[in-house]
Amino acid sequence: MAIRKVQEDPHPALRAKAKPIKVINERVRRQAADLADTLESIDIGIGLAANQVGLLWRMFVVRLPEDERATIFINPEITEREGIQESNEGCLSCPGRNGIVERPQSVTIRAQDIGGNEFTLKAEGLRAACICHEYDHLDGILFYDRVTTE
Ligand code: NI
Repeated sequence: MAIRKVQEDPHPALRAKAKPIKVINERVRRQAADLADTLESIDIGIGLAANQVGLLWRMFVVRLPEDERATIFINPEITEREGIQESNEGCLSCPGRNGIVERPQSVTIRAQDIGGNEFTLKAEGLRAACICHEYDHLDGILFYDRVTTE
């Protein structure tokens, strides 16, 4: 278990596009565990993307207050977006900043787990917004790029 340092804006990794993970091996599993441990160590965090710890891999973790453990998404693809919600967001990499972002009300996401198995998950509300926020990180997009109301 290792807690990683969460990089803050304007760290260059936050603006880079993360690369697909070709082989899910022990090294990837270790990094995924570190990402989950790091998120679980931060009370206010509900999601963390690999870019935020300076790792340009397509991987993020999500843990809402009601979740016992973080869910790890490797090579995620959002396959469906439905509806609209106004999401009040902040980011562990952008301390002191928040704002309203328009997000889908629900999303369907396909990803791989740490065993390399593909899974599909449908999420709504806060979990959907969080998944979109973390997915954006993998493309170098920060939530405030999408803010309509500060
Ligand atoms: Ni963020």
